[in-house]
Amino acid sequence: MAITGVLRPGLCQIRVLDMAAAKTHYIDRVGLDFVGEGPDGRVYLKAYDEFDRHSIVLRQADESGCDLFAFRVARPSDLDSFEQRIKDYGYTVYHVEAGEMPGVGRRIGTVIPSGHRIELYAEIEMADRHPPITNPDLWTDEPHGMRPIRMDHALLYGPNIEEVQDFFEKALDFRCAEKVMLPDGLLATWLTCSTKAHDIAFVKHPEPGKFHHVSFFLEDWNAVGWASDIITRYNISRDIGPTRHGITRGTTIYFFDPSGNRNEVFAGGYTYYPTDPTRMWDETELGKGIFYYEQQLNERFLTVVT
Ligand SMILES: [Fe+2]
Repeated sequence: MAITGVLRPGLCQIRVLDMAAAKTHYIDRVGLDFVGEGPDGRVYLKAYDEFDRHSIVLRQADESGCDLFAFRVARPSDLDSFEQRIKDYGYTVYHVEAGEMPGVGRRIGTVIPSGHRIELYAEIEMADRHPPITNPDLWTDEPHGMRPIRMDHALLYGPNIEEVQDFFEKALDFRCAEKVMLPDGLLATWLTCSTKAHDIAFVKHPEPGKFHHVSFFLEDWNAVGWASDIITRYNISRDIGPTRHGITRGTTIYFFDPSGNRNEVFAGGYTYYPTDPTRMWDETELGKGIFYYEQQLNERFLTVVT
């Protein structure tokens, strides 16, 4: 398959209450690399195997949560074609100038009916400390903390997720890899623009614009165990895990940053192809879908969001 158009998640801007505590968490414990701090105080971070300048942006604020989630598209001209398709779908498009984030080109965005800012951009500088290219070793700088390979996806909570799914499919060419249908309608949807089981996911929730988690990809189940050791050693607030999702099949741990934003580290998950059917879950096996070993949801998973 050719991967064109929207390629992958690229940027997640997270609101934190205490920047010093957030830097300790995301750099020393999660194991992201410090890229730089902008003139407005935002802190830019990346995982060791990412070529792009940064992927996580921390912004000091009075309320935790997620400001925006952005996808990289293949070519600058894709921004124009997606702008037209978003407008044709009936949504308003806003523009963000090149340089609003250091090293990032112009962005377009829209506020989807779940209340989230979703953005697209084509250009970002390559990181100074990018992964090796010539006769490439495994990494440039030795991975640390939980050794995250990349920022992988986000799960967002909000209303109107049937329409959100339709928008991602029709305007941005995403496909639904997996979903949960309850008798009263769609509870959750996992959407992919690639061969990953998901690049973004949504769960139905009455309050708009809520952030459930941002997720970092790890090498394997052993790495998930190592991350779990770090979580306990440094008394990081743990939500659940290590365990496995039935949905996407990823092995996972959820935990919280010092501002209460949920993080996930995970490994595995199936490969999705556009010819695959949408996998379906219903209320009879939902617990197994979310937490395959426990076979039941914990209350926090459905209610604690920022
Ligand atoms: Fe996740």
